Amino acid sequence: MRRNRSMDVLVEEIAIANNIRKEFPSLRGDEIYLDSGATSLKPRKVIEAVRRYEEEFPANVHRSAYPWAEKATDEYENARKNVAKLLNSKKEEIVFTKNCTEAINLAAFILSKYVNRGDRIIVSILEHHANFLPWMRLCNRKGAEFTVVDVDEEGFLDMDDFQRKLTKNTKIVAITMASNVVGTVPPIKDIVKLAKDKGAFVVLDGAQYVPHHRVNVGSLGADFIAFSGHKLFGPSGTGVLWGRKDILDEGEPLLLGGSMIKEVYIDGFEMADPPTRYETGTPNIGGIIGLGAAVEFVESIGYDFIERYEKKLVRYLYDSLKSVEGVEVYGPPPEHRTSLVAFNIRGVHPHDVAWYLGLEGIMVRSGGHCAHPLHRRLSIPFNQSVRASLSVFNTPEDIDRLIDALYKVKRSFKV
Ligand code: ALA
Repeated sequence: MRRNRSMDVLVEEIAIANNIRKEFPSLRGDEIYLDSGATSLKPRKVIEAVRRYEEEFPANVHRSAYPWAEKATDEYENARKNVAKLLNSKKEEIVFTKNCTEAINLAAFILSKYVNRGDRIIVSILEHHANFLPWMRLCNRKGAEFTVVDVDEEGFLDMDDFQRKLTKNTKIVAITMASNVVGTVPPIKDIVKLAKDKGAFVVLDGAQYVPHHRVNVGSLGADFIAFSGHKLFGPSGTGVLWGRKDILDEGEPLLLGGSMIKEVYIDGFEMADPPTRYETGTPNIGGIIGLGAAVEFVESIGYDFIERYEKKLVRYLYDSLKSVEGVEVYGPPPEHRTSLVAFNIRGVHPHDVAWYLGLEGIMVRSGGHCAHPLHRRLSIPFNQSVRASLSVFNTPEDIDRLIDALYKVKRSFKV
């Protein structure tokens, strides 16, 4: 018996997942999509919302008074209300961006004026480059200290190291809510509390967290949370920065031009109030309207189901991968991770594995996953890995097919 049979997913839950799968037109046949961590598939409802905008009222937003323009503005602002409701925040605190990366860069720009020579900015070795490089550059420009918190061999954040490094000159703590490689979910509430006790700003990268777990920004106590709309069933080119209202009120946008102003004179300008201040130029209108529909899609399934089901599914994925001889699995046990697992087949390059799986109709990501320091820290072969990331439409059968295909890879490569 080569397969791990510890699966505790219920038949009714699989039936629900299979019904959800039918909502995705791209899943026409028996494709196995295990790359939702890179971008999620788009359900019919989202595609339809974008189509309606482009076909029925394709005008610009916040500019004109004719019916198309009013309808486009209403739907765009409705998406903001949906996102605000999802996070239990005020709608003025929701800034639309093109992705999570842009959202984090914007947070770094807004906070840059508070950072001085000798201050410290803390990130962790778990970070995606998007929550690493903007802070590194800010430190380089300001003469601040860029400080990286370590993990242990299993990929758990080293909280002792964090507390040691959290000195009183720490201005910003920027931490992921879930690693995009090892899946680790750090103790965010503790991190926020410790950072706040030191008077630091806290920026959270929710790209791999928000699509799978409910976030209540009020009770979390952070200053910024960034995430991708396109990983939350929204169209590509969509992201969100939630920011505390008082900080947004005091901040400046990354880009200057249309929309972000109240008034412009030949010797100066007055900025518009947030969030418009931060959405310079014509935004991705259809995309954001689609994101509004994506939030409705998530709410119609419910985070309760998503969390409960994916927790079982990721355990099954983790246990199944662990049961294959020659497969190295990275990161903590499933109860401490979000819905993804990175691994390697010893002796086979991860791109070869992913390419072979692709021939079998199984889509996974391979490479450094924009987290090179983490791959090096964990001494992962090739500094790269294969990553299977789940969504609520995946089933244990998808994982069984992945495992069968991995045995084929092993046979082909004679390992
Ligand atoms: N940040 C995305 C990922 O982890 C693209 O795959």
